[in-house]
Amino acid sequence: MATKIIAIDGPAGSGKSSVSKQVARELGFGYLDTGAAYRALAWACLSHDGFSVDQLSSLNLAQVFDYQISTDPDNFWVKVGNNDVTAAIREPQVAEFVSQVARIPEVRSFMKALTHRLVAESGKPAVVVEGRDITTVVAPDAPIRLLLTASEEVRLKRRSAELSESSAASVMRQVSERDASDSKVVDFMTPAPGVQLVDTSDLNFNQSVSAVIALIEQGL
Ligand code: C5P
Repeated sequence: MATKIIAIDGPAGSGKSSVSKQVARELGFGYLDTGAAYRALAWACLSHDGFSVDQLSSLNLAQVFDYQISTDPDNFWVKVGNNDVTAAIREPQVAEFVSQVARIPEVRSFMKALTHRLVAESGKPAVVVEGRDITTVVAPDAPIRLLLTASEEVRLKRRSAELSESSAASVMRQVSERDASDSKVVDFMTPAPGVQLVDTSDLNFNQSVSAVIALIEQGL
């Protein structure tokens, strides 16, 4: 039977990555972080022997972008060629650059095909796929489509919770700028028709996980 997609979108700091991963663990599903693929491509552009962002629309990315990602929620890693980039893709230079890569239409269609291939190869009954355009473009027919949000204040607090006060201010600025830039390409702030909204502003982590699991169990 074909692997089902549980589609979860949301802005930075909505909790979608940590919640999606935990939901996948509890339900025995695969987990796919599509933002990691965009970040890995941005990393490849920034690395010395990588390709330039201007070339991306004309490259056959399926051939030249040697990318692997784990879909195991208990053991997450990302590789580009022989480089393990799991940590490097979280660096601020990558976060600052990734929107430029993500706005290229050819990159977006490559990522859509890549996502479906990774889901099919997961060997799981279902995969929780999280990103910005999963509910609308990548898997509009998915049996479960959720948009995780939280108020801007809560999202910024979550993103900066682990940082010192001085770097918190710059992270807040960076997250707002990246969301604003990404929103011009895909709308992930309002739910598309048929997409269920999960507002986590007043929910802690465990409550958010339970809310998402309840919706999945109702819908599957
Ligand atoms: O989710 P994360 O913050 O890691 O995503 C990194 C970037 O990848 C986003 O800022 C956005 O530019 C891009 N992205 C996207 N579509 C997705 C997932 C991520 O454009 N489905």
